Amino acid sequence: MNTAQSIDDTAYKAQVDLHTEHRVAAIDERIFSGFLEHMGRAVYEGVFDPGSPLSDERGFRRDVIDALAPLRMPMVRYPGGNFVSNYDWRDGVGPSDRRPRRPDFAWRSIETNQFGTDEFMSWCHELGTDPMVAVNLGTAGPQQAAELLEYCNLPTGTSIADERAANGHPEPYGVKLWCLGNEMDGPWQAGRVSAATYAERASAAGALMKGLDPTIETVGCGSSTNWLPTYPEWDRIVLEECWNHIDYISAHHYSRNDDDDTPSFLSQGVELDAIITQYRGLLDHVSALKRSFHRVHVSFDEWNVWYRARSGQATNGQRQAAPRLLEEVYNLEDALLVGGLINTLLRNSDRVRVACLAQLVNVIAPLVTNRTTVLRQSIYFPYAWALRYARGQSLDVRVESETYPISTAGLQADFARTAQVPFVDIVATQDGPAKQLCVLMLNRDLDGEREVALEWGGGVRPSSVLACETLTGPDLKAFNTFEQPRRVEPQRLDAPAASERMVFKLPARSYTVAQLAVH
Ligand code: AHR
Repeated sequence: MNTAQSIDDTAYKAQVDLHTEHRVAAIDERIFSGFLEHMGRAVYEGVFDPGSPLSDERGFRRDVIDALAPLRMPMVRYPGGNFVSNYDWRDGVGPSDRRPRRPDFAWRSIETNQFGTDEFMSWCHELGTDPMVAVNLGTAGPQQAAELLEYCNLPTGTSIADERAANGHPEPYGVKLWCLGNEMDGPWQAGRVSAATYAERASAAGALMKGLDPTIETVGCGSSTNWLPTYPEWDRIVLEECWNHIDYISAHHYSRNDDDDTPSFLSQGVELDAIITQYRGLLDHVSALKRSFHRVHVSFDEWNVWYRARSGQATNGQRQAAPRLLEEVYNLEDALLVGGLINTLLRNSDRVRVACLAQLVNVIAPLVTNRTTVLRQSIYFPYAWALRYARGQSLDVRVESETYPISTAGLQADFARTAQVPFVDIVATQDGPAKQLCVLMLNRDLDGEREVALEWGGGVRPSSVLACETLTGPDLKAFNTFEQPRRVEPQRLDAPAASERMVFKLPARSYTVAQLAVH
């Protein structure tokens, strides 16, 4: 972990010990999943745009699929988010001309239901990703959830599975992972209930659903944010009641920089580490209380930067279909933080088995569409690196780096009082079969280059550098636009020769990836 503080004249240097036998865990590839909600222009004009010359005969935007496909994202969560808590999945299946237009409670928009479960499954198939489906436990309940499971996963021969076949899809979709509601503790949530009521409802839903298809896994709703006063008591109650019916507890986290305090903002990966540590304690506590061999892991199924488009018109659809909502514009510092959050997820891959960048297109998203093209925002790049390079085992990396103090703004008070943040944050992964290593390096120093010496132990020696790129720039507030789409993008970085000891020079305010081959 990043702890030690240097005070001598080598303060700008960091020492990193990596030993390929010292592992955190095998990385569950689902920690780099995505999220697609029915809101704003995420579905409509984002992934589904019938009539656009950029769309195929099913209405799927080809340019969006082409931008996402190389990422090989393993899974996409759908259809919400807050939207799901007042969604009747039946509205979105069957002949499209008979599907109802409905007022959406969460985002005060109009939902046309032209895209629904079957379209989502086809889109996932086209993209080569797995679906993760959330059920409505707000205004609906266990019965409707079980019916959606029957629609998706059961072979024909029962009435609702036969409906799927009648809608043109005889083969079951085999959805493996199911969210039992969304943010059910949030005062903003349709059908919000107390922890005890939710826990009963989720237990019933989980039991019914697993009764129909014992191969599925389920995610219980944890706290929607660590800011709510009910955190983490809500989680304890849910875990104690639902333990045998869930495989994951959800956590959501959106980073903010309202005070324009970049040093604190860039430290929020450390805050995420602290939150995951709290979940470790809670999960171990409940597991011990239950004397249980069953394991529940964390599903960080919404995380990103989101603080600008948080109120007013940015969140109120004003009864329009596909209004512009949560269209956050991401700059360089956001991309650096996303890199830091990726490092945190990898460092905790023994506990975090699922995580979804929220969201995919247009709504707090790495991709933005207009009528003629798709734009890659700054945060696309660190995510693409994680998906491409961070595979196999996450290594237990020891980092000695100088630290800096951060203000308490934006962080949990008890944690922030003592917060010293390392300038350099490093994670490493080893893909044994591919004989490759990956190192992801964040330099939080806004003013200076940092030298990082990697010392490899464990009998595995890097033999060549396959790739080395960095995201950096003089202007932390720089962002891409349709007119200037390449203001923030990765640049090649000079790497040291591959050897047992490799010294990288990380530019000021940068996030860097190095991919190494091993003997
Ligand atoms: O991702 C945007 C919203 O953030 C989701 O609908 C909700 O789950 C969270 O509050």
